Amino acid sequence: MKKIRRIGILTAGGDSPGLNAAIRAVGKTAIGKYGWEIIGFRDGYLGLAQDRFVRLTKHDLSGILTVGGTVLGTSRDKVHRMMVDGRERDMTAQIAKNYRKHRLDALVCIGGGGTHKNAMRLAGNGLRIVTLPKTIDNDVALTDATIGFDTALGIATEAIDRLHSTAHSHHRIIITEIMGHKAGWLTLGAGLAGGADVILVPEIPYDLEKIAAAVRRRSGMGTNFSIIAVAEGARSREDFDALRAAGRRRERARAPEEREYAKLRLGELEAEHTGNTMRLARQLEGLTGLEARVTILGYVQRGGTPSLGDRLLATRLGTACVELIARGASGIMVASSGQGVRPVPIEAVAGKQKLVPLSHPWFSAARSVGTCLGD
Ligand code: F6P
Repeated sequence: MKKIRRIGILTAGGDSPGLNAAIRAVGKTAIGKYGWEIIGFRDGYLGLAQDRFVRLTKHDLSGILTVGGTVLGTSRDKVHRMMVDGRERDMTAQIAKNYRKHRLDALVCIGGGGTHKNAMRLAGNGLRIVTLPKTIDNDVALTDATIGFDTALGIATEAIDRLHSTAHSHHRIIITEIMGHKAGWLTLGAGLAGGADVILVPEIPYDLEKIAAAVRRRSGMGTNFSIIAVAEGARSREDFDALRAAGRRRERARAPEEREYAKLRLGELEAEHTGNTMRLARQLEGLTGLEARVTILGYVQRGGTPSLGDRLLATRLGTACVELIARGASGIMVASSGQGVRPVPIEAVAGKQKLVPLSHPWFSAARSVGTCLGD
């Protein structure tokens, strides 16, 4: 096996707490234990394409364990469709050139869904890539956990705790919108931990009448307030069916114009749903006679210092990543598996999404304590 001298590292996709802890773990192990050099690329794959980098020293890696965001910066660029000098270009070959120019022996890419698709493309072009799963959404396939989820879960739970007292004091419905893209992990976890009365997730299309009935039932028992935790990707049954039909039309479309139209229509439908939570509030006011307010947690969930769980996870995955590279690993994601790690092929992860299975114990626990799941 070729002796390893230098590795690269980048963070891509939405930032999440624990990224710096992962960079530190990879860097300290690479430099301190193995004596490798480590080059950090700025702003994800974009910096790699534009050859913007920093040679990371032990000094750069000190004091970042507890810091939120990513010291390397991040972006959501796709390697094959990157905006460079005002136009979209396929930068795959340029990235491979820069990788070779730096004489990298491996590249560590830390990210979620988009990052893995990019990583697969680069691995297919001969780059030796190892990835770490990161996203507050927890929706990366084949890993128990992703870096950032635990912190975001804590923040969303604390928000629900705080919303309880104001909802109670004003006898209101408070709807809190929680991130998660198309998965309900954050909303279900925080809703359960925070004792939300209604939890709405993308995995279970909701019925407005059922939600209103749950709120009315509480009022009937003298509890004139309700907390509703709704995932940004949650949909009513009608919206869900319309989106699914549009998705099928796109799959069936053969002619290029037909495909383009179907894609546009799907995009329009998805965009129409971005005001979902406000619409839900208005609808529930009408159906229950209670005042409703909306709190969108947004980027608060992604910012700030990582939880101890995320620091441990990032350190565990980051150190294991270097050990795997030292043993010759390539084209794999370092997945968390119980207290250990497990290498899984990047192609088994890329393009997949880990939704909350309907058989998950969090769902049954929520139903057992009387939480309405909108169905
Ligand atoms: O993937 C993490 C995430 O925060 C999702 O929960 C959310 O849908 C999305 O990123 C927001 O993306 P952006 O940072 O591009 O606005």
